[in-house]
Amino acid sequence: MTGAGTTSARGGGSETQRDTQLWHRPSTPPSTIGPWLPEGELGLALSAALLRVESALVTAVASDHSFVSEAAGHLMAAGGKRFRPMLALLAAQLGDAGPDGEVADEVVAAAVVCELTHLATLYHDDVMDEASVRRGAPSANSRWTNSVAILTGDFLFARASDLLADLGPEAVRVQAKTFERLVTGQLRETVGAGPGEDRIDHYLGVLADKTGSLVATSARFGATFAGAPAELVTALTAFGEEVGVAFQLSDDLIDIVSEGGTSGKLPGTDLREGIATLPVLFALAGDDPAEARLRELVAGPVVDDAEHAEALALLRSSASLARATAVLNDYADRARARLDAVPEGPVREALSALCTYVVTRTS
Ligand code: IPE
Ligand code: IPE
Ligand code: MG
Ligand code: MG
Repeated sequence: MTGAGTTSARGGGSETQRDTQLWHRPSTPPSTIGPWLPEGELGLALSAALLRVESALVTAVASDHSFVSEAAGHLMAAGGKRFRPMLALLAAQLGDAGPDGEVADEVVAAAVVCELTHLATLYHDDVMDEASVRRGAPSANSRWTNSVAILTGDFLFARASDLLADLGPEAVRVQAKTFERLVTGQLRETVGAGPGEDRIDHYLGVLADKTGSLVATSARFGATFAGAPAELVTALTAFGEEVGVAFQLSDDLIDIVSEGGTSGKLPGTDLREGIATLPVLFALAGDDPAEARLRELVAGPVVDDAEHAEALALLRSSASLARATAVLNDYADRARARLDAVPEGPVREALSALCTYVVTRTS
């Protein structure tokens, strides 16, 4: 999807070839999120605003030190769906346009803050998950080292904070609370459910914290900085939270069903890392005899290649996967119901199309 052409972290040609692939792609569209984007006037307005976001991102990752620029620009240049900034820009359509008919500079800055925060968490997440591929390119930890990936993530957080300072203390506080939830979600995923805690409730709580939080804030910032009425800001925030959980749920399902090459990541990473996502949790909690072998395989990290392939194949055809897909649909339906508060028109239709996209996406 977003691929820079490198499919393996350590393979894929010389460093020079790889750099060429990553840095010189003028025809690459800035967002590959595609299918849910509206056409017509709204689509054009979003594309124009996204170009401003892209240009601000390039500035935000630049440093006087060439290696810092290279490391901080690495994943940004590799692609990405730009889901969070697009949602911010779309939510902003519910407020006022700037004097020139374009979205306000604050909206663009807020969208950049959301993407930078997301980007930073990807650097850190790939260290945590020992992931070798991200956005079709080698992850920073695999291209360099864990230390480089962690510090580059911190650099991006610093740059996000710098931009945030101009958006005022309330925005700084919202972002701080968002980041607290995101990190709490990552921590709770790392340590697992506590004694007596339901594993499925724990998992859904983790998803809301690690992903729903920032997606909600993206929608909130977009609506807020465009001056949308308070009730719309509230509805859009709730929408973002639920569509964010749906987005993460679909990401977890794609990790199981994708045959590779489409997600820009290595499929099956969750199984290898022993991260039990919803279909696995349903299998483990159930007593379906048809899933007995699956339960045995996924009780812990699945590192053996043959067992990994077997577990993936069993999961793909399991009733537990179908059950997890039904939960994904529920979240998307709940998100769509929040749109009752949004006036009818192209923006509401685009937000509704986004709900369809999260349940149908394959990358
Ligand atoms: C990946 O996010 C991590 C999740 C929260 C699922 P995205 O799927 O938005 O990643 P990019 O930005 O397109 O690479
Ligand atoms: C992504 O989480 C990181 C955050 C949401 C903070 P995952 O580990 O589930 O996502 P991928 O599959 O690596 O993108
Ligand atoms: Mg990960
Ligand atoms: Mg992770």
